Amino acid sequence: MQTRRIGGLQVGAIGLGGMPMSLEGRPDEGRSVATIHAALDEGVTLIDTADAYHWHADEVGHNEALIARALAGYGGDTSDVLVATKGGHLRPGDGSWTLDGSPEHLKRACEASLKRLGVEAIGLYQLHRPDPKVPYAESVGAIRDLLDAGKIRFAGISNADPERIRQANEILDGRLVSVQNQFSPAFRSSEPELELCAELGIAFLPWSPFGGILRAGELGSRFAPFQRVAAAHEVSAHQVCLAWMLAKAPVVIPIPGASRPQSITDSTAAVRLTLTAEELALLDAA
Ligand SMILES: NC(=O)c1ccc[n+]([C@@H]2O[C@H](COP(=O)([O-])OP(=O)(O)OC[C@H]3O[C@@H](n4cnc5c(N)ncnc54)[C@H](OP(=O)(O)O)[C@@H]3O)[C@@H](O)[C@H]2O)c1
Repeated sequence: MQTRRIGGLQVGAIGLGGMPMSLEGRPDEGRSVATIHAALDEGVTLIDTADAYHWHADEVGHNEALIARALAGYGGDTSDVLVATKGGHLRPGDGSWTLDGSPEHLKRACEASLKRLGVEAIGLYQLHRPDPKVPYAESVGAIRDLLDAGKIRFAGISNADPERIRQANEILDGRLVSVQNQFSPAFRSSEPELELCAELGIAFLPWSPFGGILRAGELGSRFAPFQRVAAAHEVSAHQVCLAWMLAKAPVVIPIPGASRPQSITDSTAAVRLTLTAEELALLDAA
């Protein structure tokens, strides 16, 4: 697969989002493992997860442990796979998402993620979301400490506005390698962050690129131009959506979620889809 850069690493230009394999409505483990293996077969080398990707309160890190097992059980070489996890969100088990961005929590959470992933250093560790109860500099300072201690190889942030991106990069002494924000045909207000990342050479990872688990199936019917361009190329609207994102800037690496092998196999084909300037303008305006 065509590759893009995160920090000093080259990763496949399409990643895999692990969330649908661990939240409410998740499939059985066999199908999840088959989905991760299908992604690896296609050349995916970035897998996004979080300690908070679980359903019940007593299964923190469900998705991290699943990914670790799937990697261990894969027949091929996985040494170039970058697992990107996150800390700072909690799921008490009632469907809600709460926050703890305190340095104490983040350091404890990182240690637990290290154990579940079975690695000496986490590939990419991302602050999941700013916690309004904790000064942002303190949360990012904890990530810097983890980086300096060698607990994590690369540092990223998520759900950050341009000001926080600049602040985090400063606190990390210019070592911020990725920003993960919501971005999709339905949610475009992250364009300024995408542009800032392009300017700074920081990877931009659009989350919920199809509008999220519950609305991904409606992409073509909600956004007619995506469906029209898809029909012209005889591909899915989802591939068109990812190709449109890839064309925005060389720092963009979408992380579509999947819980079926066919979904990720279809999505990765987007790297072979080239859209014309006219098509891109049509999609921008959709
Ligand atoms: N940082 C954050 O705060 C944050 C928040 C949300 C998500 N994320 C990350 O971003 C990732 C992606 O977001 P998401 O999973 O919420 O939503 P999404 O990627 O917009 O949609 C995921 C759904 O799209 C379907 N799908 C995938 N490829 C498809 C294709 N080619 N054709 C048709 N349907 C397809 C999948 O269906 P099947 O399940 O049937 O395969 C999946 O359930 C997450 O998995 C997670 O890693 C981060």
